[in-house]
Amino acid sequence: MRFLVTAGPTREPIDPVRYLGNRSSGKMGYAIAEAAIDAGHDVVLISGPVDLNPPTGAKLISVTTSDQMFDAVHQHIRHCDVLVMSAAVADYKPATVSKQKIKKRDANLSLGLTPTRDVLASLSKPDRDFVVVGFAAETENIEANALKKLRDKNCDVIVANDACMAMESEENEVEIFFRSGKKEKISRAPKKIIARELVKIFENVREKGLTKKIT
Ligand code: CTP
Repeated sequence: MRFLVTAGPTREPIDPVRYLGNRSSGKMGYAIAEAAIDAGHDVVLISGPVDLNPPTGAKLISVTTSDQMFDAVHQHIRHCDVLVMSAAVADYKPATVSKQKIKKRDANLSLGLTPTRDVLASLSKPDRDFVVVGFAAETENIEANALKKLRDKNCDVIVANDACMAMESEENEVEIFFRSGKKEKISRAPKKIIARELVKIFENVREKGLTKKIT
């Protein structure tokens, strides 16, 4: 199978020296890419800026901003069977990017923000022929928020985790929600172990062709 995996944060420039970012390390996405390769799949890994070596055998596409992530995923989506959106794509970007460094003044500074495009929602069309896996990084009401994302973004699978536990950590604990209403939990374990289980789950969803049963 052909996997398209996104990983890591995006950075949204404010001026030539500053950006809005988040604490995603990319470890979960990189572990999924590696596990998919180990299971014999072809992997394209679209990554935001991270401090990790890409898994041997993955085709790495490095991006920085949410707009670049959007374009890169759209460019590669045609050749994929399973899309895994584990990247922590920014929800907002500065409305304008200052060409010069913003100078310090003795007053409050407000930054105008504008919503970014949602990569996942833009691709989960009902007539698609690939499996769509979204992630849900939550700090509260994990199940309710994850189920809302599953519905709103028309995913086949949502992998939900506690953002506070998952970010920057070597370990994770995830709950997996399926379009069918089924759910599964993988207890706290190293991300590499969790990734192996997730890849088996995604293969299974693809094989059962659950994407065809869109309600
Ligand atoms: N996502 C995306 N494009 C964005 C924002 C998020 O594709 N601009 C994807 C993420 O990669 C993830 C899923 O949407 O697979 C959910 O991301 P998450 O940050 O948990 O939720 P949001 O949709 O951003 O909503 P909120 O921040 O309100 O929880």
